[in-house]
Amino acid sequence: MKALEGVRILDMTHVQSGPTCTQLLAWFGADVIKVERPGTGDITRQQLRDIKDVDSLYFTMLNANKRSITLDTKTDEGKAIFTKLIETCDVLVENFAPGALDRMGFTWERIHTINPRIIYASIKGFGAGPYFDCKVYENVAQCTGGSASTTGFDDGPPMVTASQIGDSGTGLNAALGIVTALFHREKSGRGQRVECAMQDGVLNLCRVKLRDQQRLQRGPLKEYPQFPNGEFGTSVPRAGHASGGGQPGWMVRCAPGGPDDYIYVIIQPQGWAPLMETIGRPELITAPHWATPEARLSKLDQCFEIVEAWTLTKTKFEVMEIFNQHDIPCGPILSMEELAAEQTLRATGTVVEVDHPKRGKYLTVGNPIKLSDSPTEVKRSPLLGEHTEEILKDVVGYTDSQIKAAREAGAL
Ligand code: COA
Repeated sequence: MKALEGVRILDMTHVQSGPTCTQLLAWFGADVIKVERPGTGDITRQQLRDIKDVDSLYFTMLNANKRSITLDTKTDEGKAIFTKLIETCDVLVENFAPGALDRMGFTWERIHTINPRIIYASIKGFGAGPYFDCKVYENVAQCTGGSASTTGFDDGPPMVTASQIGDSGTGLNAALGIVTALFHREKSGRGQRVECAMQDGVLNLCRVKLRDQQRLQRGPLKEYPQFPNGEFGTSVPRAGHASGGGQPGWMVRCAPGGPDDYIYVIIQPQGWAPLMETIGRPELITAPHWATPEARLSKLDQCFEIVEAWTLTKTKFEVMEIFNQHDIPCGPILSMEELAAEQTLRATGTVVEVDHPKRGKYLTVGNPIKLSDSPTEVKRSPLLGEHTEEILKDVVGYTDSQIKAAREAGAL
């Protein structure tokens, strides 16, 4: 039995943030019923297509293990079916633009009246406030949540990151909110509202930068590359590759010098001696101007130049192997090509090959959370409306003639 077996999710999500959440719940065993608009479905089915008329990888990689029903929830018959789904489901999740479900007539009050045990989770760009009504995509959240202003180099513009911290990150928050509310329902018997804002999710992940904002009021941020020669303003500057933690780190080049031939190296206080020994600079282990973290703080750029002079003679994988023999934390820059081919990730189920009836085989990222008693089996995403009749019969309790009537009424 899977961890969330018996939990039924009414999935009104689209694009990335919401689907990330419901895909995770499906991997844990929940029955996820994805409600999609007849004809088009989730917009991502058609976005960034690599094969004509076939669901895109964008869609297939965010909607595994779900069932799909097409339902126009703006028609009377569609609303009647939707109401029955609310009655039987444990959780409703949506990430439409603010107010979309309300405009269909399904406010929290109404949903809670229809089913007092249901948990209603929403993802929006912003929490309550002047921006609440705004539509938001990933990079908008990165810009408004503090990530962009603190990413990049001091002499360059704010930068967005490729990690989908606003979308997938907030989807993870929503999933945690849902299982927490399910746990609470065990005791209270009541469902509750779960609200996750993408701005909040990004800021939560940028916690260390709000830490630095407050430290800045008491003096320069000594581990930042701006120290000691650059200027600090009143706000946390972009710190390039500097580590967000208490230990200095930087990205250094490796052989043979390709676009991804870099390794990130961290210098712990206890790592200085083995690092200098390894790269052939033992004289710096005890030299007064280099020996302590405090002595090195004002010349971290020179420290990493010294390290780079050696890493340039090795590949990133050789550096990884040699440094780890001495417990020196480091991370080779792995390209997507390398990650896709990485067999250890296949073995753990983090990268999974899935077979799709129209697309054939494709790779997806599996469940990053491993439960010993509830292993994840990644199943392909559903075709648009693939389970419409099955859900209407088994979940809604409709007969063939009721399904026919709903179809004729344009609800399906
Ligand atoms: N039947 C009938 N209508 C449906 C439907 C269905 N099954 N499913 C969706 N719709 C309707 C909605 O009710 C809405 O109609 P309305 O505008 O008349 O109320 C409409 O489809 C489109 O929804 P919307 O959310 O406005 O889509 P969009 O493509 O314009 O905007 C986002 C997309 C992502 C910007 C927006 O949904 C949003 O801001 N979401 C919240 C934040 C978020 O999750 N962003 C990240 C996405 S990865």
